Amino acid sequence: MAFFAKIHRGTPANLAMLAGQLRKGELVAVPTETVYGLAGDATSEAACLKIFAAKERPLSDPLIVHIASARDLPRVAHANPAALTLAKAFWPGPLTIILPKTDEIPGAATSNLPSVAVRVPSNRLFRRLIRLAGVPLAAPSANPFGYVSPTTAAHVMDHLGSKISHILDGGASVIGVESTIIDLRNPARPVLLRPGAVTRAQLQKVLGVAVLSKSKPRAKTGAQVAPGQLKRHYSPRTPVLLHATMTRAMIVKAGPEDAWLFVSKPRGQPLPNVYWLDAKGDMKRASRRLFAALRELDETGFRRIHVERPKGAGLAEAIADRLTRASSR
Ligand code: TXA
Ligand code: MG
Repeated sequence: MAFFAKIHRGTPANLAMLAGQLRKGELVAVPTETVYGLAGDATSEAACLKIFAAKERPLSDPLIVHIASARDLPRVAHANPAALTLAKAFWPGPLTIILPKTDEIPGAATSNLPSVAVRVPSNRLFRRLIRLAGVPLAAPSANPFGYVSPTTAAHVMDHLGSKISHILDGGASVIGVESTIIDLRNPARPVLLRPGAVTRAQLQKVLGVAVLSKSKPRAKTGAQVAPGQLKRHYSPRTPVLLHATMTRAMIVKAGPEDAWLFVSKPRGQPLPNVYWLDAKGDMKRASRRLFAALRELDETGFRRIHVERPKGAGLAEAIADRLTRASSR
């Protein structure tokens, strides 16, 4: 392994070389429309274990398997009509579907669960790489376990640069928060496991049934059967405090060592330690900025980062979810 990862542009020659690395069981950090992923051959137990090792991720936290087209779904999962309907409506795109797995996917990818998380990413470079590799690619977010997900190649380099050899640069992720995860093992009772850019309302409209919320994540770590995500996740090192509303009086009282991150630009005279994701509060732009903003504030050396929980459905729900996780220690 190299001492430091190399960042590759998506030229045909580079893609062919990286596909060869993947076929040999090596890891490649890849761009996706949601966040950067750390990819390895999903059919290889050894490659899957390398992913866990590089991220220092607990073996109990299963990986997402990426395929180039819905046509490849039977190779990795046993689909049902509801899953095919969702695949048709939302793939390629930021939707991950949980289904019973096939024998082609080793227990190392799924934390020994009999189910697998699958998606077809919309990022074209990544899809081309999957095709060239000729195998489904397991790829969790390309960050050390528990830290904020990366949305640029430079973010990946910052934290995993000494652990991996290859990063494929596809520019900044256009969505910026991880995919929506829906559990469709029982198609009559779909469950939303993680909110993302594909919204609950969109899913319900296409499925024609209510999409339930997952039950409260269990306090202790363990096999994620009902499977909640682990609670502490997506956290900067600086303590993050979540508020329903943040007022000017609170900001002034806390003093200049605290940072305050709003979704939209707050009214009134700007204060030096006040930040926002998008001036007008456009949720698409805000989600695209979210993780980069948390990283930047983390690196600035503030004592604490205060964040305001956005209200509403859709992407606001996804941003609120990530801020809640970032603030739970
Ligand atoms: O947008 C995304 O989903 C990105 C890009 C790279 O595709 N990937 C990603 O993976 O965010 P990550 O690090 O969140 O890990 C996958 C998560 C697990 O933490 C777990 O919550 C859920 O997917 N998951 C995976 N397999 C599962 C399964 N069989 N049952 C329930 N949840 C599962
Ligand atoms: Mg992750």
